[in-house]
Amino acid sequence: MVCTTFMALYIPLNLQMNLTSNLLIKVLHWTCSLILIIDIYVRYDWIRKDTIAQDKPRWTMLTSRLLVDIVAAIPVGLMFGTGYFQVIQLIKLVRVAQFIRMFKQAEVKFSISLTLISFVYWTSLLFHWLTCGWMSIYDIGHGVDRATRYISALYWTMTTLTSVGYGDIVPVNNIQRLYAIMVAMTGLGVFGYLIGNVVTILSKLDAGYARYKEHVEHLSTATKRRGLSKELQRRVLDYYRYVRDEKTGYDESVFLQTLPETLRTEVALSLKKEFIEGIPLFRNASERFVVDIALQLQLIVATPHDYIFKADDPANNMYFVISGELEVLNKKQDQVLATLKAGDFFGEIALVKNVPRTATIRATTYCNLYKLGRKTFKSVLETHPEIAAQIEEEARVREQRYYEE
Ligand code: CMP
Repeated sequence: MVCTTFMALYIPLNLQMNLTSNLLIKVLHWTCSLILIIDIYVRYDWIRKDTIAQDKPRWTMLTSRLLVDIVAAIPVGLMFGTGYFQVIQLIKLVRVAQFIRMFKQAEVKFSISLTLISFVYWTSLLFHWLTCGWMSIYDIGHGVDRATRYISALYWTMTTLTSVGYGDIVPVNNIQRLYAIMVAMTGLGVFGYLIGNVVTILSKLDAGYARYKEHVEHLSTATKRRGLSKELQRRVLDYYRYVRDEKTGYDESVFLQTLPETLRTEVALSLKKEFIEGIPLFRNASERFVVDIALQLQLIVATPHDYIFKADDPANNMYFVISGELEVLNKKQDQVLATLKAGDFFGEIALVKNVPRTATIRATTYCNLYKLGRKTFKSVLETHPEIAAQIEEEARVREQRYYEE
C-alpha cells in the first residue's frame, strides 16, 4: 500500500516536473518497483494456498487479481523513461481499495476511524492528481522553482474545489476553462459527500456522547411537557453524565439478543468473566457455574442516594457490587448497619427465606451492580449447592448480626 501510494504521488508529479535527476527519489522508485514485483509472488502464493484450502480453483478471481498485480509491477517508467503510459501502474490502486475494504471489515474496534482515514486518503490523492493536471495545462512562466509551481497549482486546485477561486490565477483558454469546471464539479461532489457523511461518522465515533445528547433532549422535552422538578432533573442529568463518562449502563442484553445462542454465551462470558471472578463468592466456582450465571446477570447503574430497595419491599432480585459503595440501613433508616463495596453481594436474605426485605439499601456513590432475578437465583443455587451453602451461611451471619444490633 505504501509503495502504491508512493507511485500514485510520484508518477503524475514526475510527468510534470521530471524528478528523475533526484537520487533519493530514484532510489525510492526502484525500491517500490522491486517491492511490487515481490508482491506478485507473495500474492500468487497466498491465492494458490487459499485455492487448495478451499478445494475449488477460483481461476477467474486469481487471474484478474494477478493480472492487475503483473501490470502494476512492470516498471514502465524505469524501462522506457517518462511518458504518460507510466500511469498504467496506478491500476494497483484497485488492490489498495480492496485492501482498505477488507481491513475495514476485519477491524471492528476502529472501523469508523478507518472510514474517515480512507476518505482522507482518497481525497488527498485526488487533490494531488488535480494539482498535477492543472500543472500540465497551465504555464506559470519560466524561472519558477518546482516547489512554487506545485504550491501555486495546489492553491488554485484547493480554491477552485472549495469555492470558485480568488481570481488571481485564472483559466485563459478553453482547455483550462473546461478543467476548471471539472474541478469545481468535483469539489461539489467531494464536499457534498463530506457534509453528508462526516457528521454521521463523527457522531458514530463517539457513540456514547451521541447517546448522551439524545437522552438530554428527551429529558428536556419531558421537563417542558410534564415539569420535572429541578432536583430530579439534576439527578437524571448526573446519571447520564456518569454513564457517558464511564461508558457503562449500555444494556449488553440487547446486543446479546442479536447473537445465536452458542455465540451469545461466549460473548456474555467474555464480557462478564472479569467481574464474576472479582466477586469472592464465585472465585472458586466451577467453569460451568460461571457460564450459567454469565447470561443471567444484568448490569444496572445506581446514582448517589438512590434506594436500590427499602425494608419490607417485596423481593425479586439479588445484587452483586461491581464498583461503588452502598450502605445497609435498618428499617427506620436511622442507623447504618454495614457498607457494601466491590465484590460484596446483597438482597439474598429475602430470597433465601422467602420474606420481604429485611433492610434498606442506599447507594452512597455511583455504583455498577449486577442483578440476578429470583427464578434464576433459585435454579442456579439448586444446581450449584456449594454456592448455595455459602450464600445461606452469609445470610445467616448477617441476619444474626442484624438482630444483635
Ligand atoms: P435482604 O433482606 O434481601 O435485603 C436487605 C439486604 O441487606 C439483605 O438481604 C442482606 O443482603 C443485606 N444485609 C442485611 N444486614 C446486613 C449486614 N449486617 N451486613 C451486610 N449486609 C446486610
